[in-house]
Amino acid sequence: MTNLASRNVPTHVAIIMDGNGRWAKSRGLPRSMGHRKGVEAVREAVRTAGSVGIGYLTLFAFSSENWSRPESEVSDLMGLLKIFIRRDLAVLHKEHVRIRVIGDRSNLRDDILPLLIEAEETTKQNTGITLVIAFNYGSRDEMARAARAMAADAMAGRIRPDEITPERISSYLDTAGIPDPDLIIRTSGEERLSNFLLWQAAYSEFVFIPDFWPDFKRETFLAALETYAGRERRFGRVSAPPLAVGS
Ligand code: IPE
Ligand code: IPE
Ligand code: MG
Repeated sequence: MTNLASRNVPTHVAIIMDGNGRWAKSRGLPRSMGHRKGVEAVREAVRTAGSVGIGYLTLFAFSSENWSRPESEVSDLMGLLKIFIRRDLAVLHKEHVRIRVIGDRSNLRDDILPLLIEAEETTKQNTGITLVIAFNYGSRDEMARAARAMAADAMAGRIRPDEITPERISSYLDTAGIPDPDLIIRTSGEERLSNFLLWQAAYSEFVFIPDFWPDFKRETFLAALETYAGRERRFGRVSAPPLAVGS
């Protein structure tokens, strides 16, 4: 199907799954149907990522700003998350998927938080792909929480101000221990980050896909990976690799 082989497969892919509502609207369906269909695309994306050797797949499931949607839509999305974890956890566990959840956990409804914790606890020893679910996640909120924790540690004498390096800041973020995303994909034609992984995306490659999220198939994912494989990442350096001198 693809000659992606092991050529330049990103370690970490993060996806902004966007366009469920417009997918539904274009079919004259309620937005909730788009979200429901979106869950099927999630399952396929996790399978595809695992099959090509991606190490970490982060999915933006619900942003800290999505609470401002109509109550009925928020409740549909919460319901779907619950169904996804209840129905899929056993399968994911069997496939050695390790689940991590990022986002603010304080004030989460008590029918949601225990499920998220259960998903992490059940799968924490797994050695397959890490599925990072960004739920109630917003990058600025994550950074503010990290800054608060750092300030508290500084006041308690646990860190000195001169120890606050980029690496130390990373270690206070929800994504501590997870490598920065190599590739960020956004579906639905929108080309913005919407408060997703602002710190971690410093050197990420971006691929924007016109398809709505429910139409994101294995082929779409593989094509995005091909695009990524053709990119040259320079990290601020010059293009040509340095010649070995004196060897
Ligand atoms: C993405 O689809 C799902 C979530 C944000 C939870 P949207 O619901 O944003 O769909 P559009 O962008 O309105 O089409
Ligand atoms: C980003 O999509 C959030 C998720 C995919 C969960 P939005 O649809 O909320 O973003 P905006 O409002 O179009 O920027
Ligand atoms: Mg959207």
